[in-house]
Amino acid sequence: MNDRFPNSRRLFERAQRSIAGGVNSGIRKMEQPVPLYFTHGRGCRLFDVDGHEYIDFQIGQGAILYGHAPAGQAAAIAEQAKLGTHWAAQSELEIEVAERLQRMIPGAERMRCQNSATEVVLSALRLARAHTGRRLILKFEGHYHGWADEGLVGFAPPPDKWGTDEEPTRLHPSQGVIPEVLEQFVVARWNDPAHLRRRVEQYRGQIAAIIFEPVLCNTGCMEPVPGMVATIRELCDREGMLMIADETITGFRFGAGCAQQFLGFVPDLTILGKAIGGGVPFAALVGKESAMQKITRGEIVHAGTLNGNPLCLAAAKWCLDEVTALGDRHPAGMIALGRRLMDGLSALARRHDIPLQPQGPGLVFHAAMLKPGAAAGPIRDYRDYVRRQDAPRWAHLRRCLLEEGVRAIERGLWFISLAHREADITEALERCEVAFARHAAEWKAA
Ligand SMILES: Cc1ncc(COP(=O)(O)O)c(C=O)c1O
Repeated sequence: MNDRFPNSRRLFERAQRSIAGGVNSGIRKMEQPVPLYFTHGRGCRLFDVDGHEYIDFQIGQGAILYGHAPAGQAAAIAEQAKLGTHWAAQSELEIEVAERLQRMIPGAERMRCQNSATEVVLSALRLARAHTGRRLILKFEGHYHGWADEGLVGFAPPPDKWGTDEEPTRLHPSQGVIPEVLEQFVVARWNDPAHLRRRVEQYRGQIAAIIFEPVLCNTGCMEPVPGMVATIRELCDREGMLMIADETITGFRFGAGCAQQFLGFVPDLTILGKAIGGGVPFAALVGKESAMQKITRGEIVHAGTLNGNPLCLAAAKWCLDEVTALGDRHPAGMIALGRRLMDGLSALARRHDIPLQPQGPGLVFHAAMLKPGAAAGPIRDYRDYVRRQDAPRWAHLRRCLLEEGVRAIERGLWFISLAHREADITEALERCEVAFARHAAEWKAA
């Protein structure tokens, strides 16, 4: 292949002499053939240092729900910057954001701001343990809750270490984790309500909370099977555990009321990140007043110099108003666009004999590349995903897509944003056609 990215390559080489590993988040190294460097973005388009333009379906790992550099958000941030970037104190802005969240999200009676969803997860788990006086947290295989010790237990174990179907491992993918942290978790498989009941029964009276992604987007894209979310709610109510919805990805993407309103449930605590700030480092913990008591009364430590930073609050306020103003048009518009893209990708895959299987609710979906001989049909959980996903073949197609100006996430996820239009999907599919043809020819020859 020709090197289409000489400037990115030069910057990456230079970066490695000053930035550890050359990137500032480990997964960015996954980008092949080289981590790309960008100059600017506009709407759903992104521009790199080699002069290429991309139709962006990675959109800041989901944070850029409103497209790149929306004028209204840029103005809100600029206006606030003139008044001050940081006070480490109160402002009316934070109340305005909290009141908006109360109006929008069923489970948001109280709020606390933070800077990343990873931090919010840590706060929620601490709160749940203090609230219940219990030690254990139940989480699901393949669900990602930030990069900290507590967020990644049992996330993506290799098949030879994932344990039995009934007893999934608590392996953590990182070295250096406090070993005792692993013992504070119970891991269950996703989308098997009967198995979940057995896990809860096994640790009866010891589990403080169940944390989950309402639509699993960090391993494939797996909507909950019928009864899954209702079982979590029922078990939490019956056993006195807190239900923690990690809506870092689904929040605002699935509408003003987030996935909880879309799917019809009310969690005790909700993690918000990414789209709440539209690309600025803003995240929030929201929850029922009863579940937030330990923070309200100051019985657990919850702190942070930059919490409630006015630049981020100004950006978030603009984002929330944007989503609210769309009313019923959101998420319907994004679902329709995403489904069109999924259908177009399926048709191209059939035409070029590529075993690609898009799965998801449209506004976010995963394009699973099936291994030779793997059965087609919905992928339901992490193990099913590992057994069927042909990662090297997807990586090759992803590179072909990138070189034709279509940017999906390295692991196969695609996000639609509010800035994508019908014409962008049409153009993306035209570019995909060229990429699919090239992939089919090169993969066969390999
Ligand atoms: C579901 C979920 N929870 C938590 C996080 C952590 O968010 P952050 O990287 O902003 O700390 C992520 C990040 O991708 C996520 O997808």
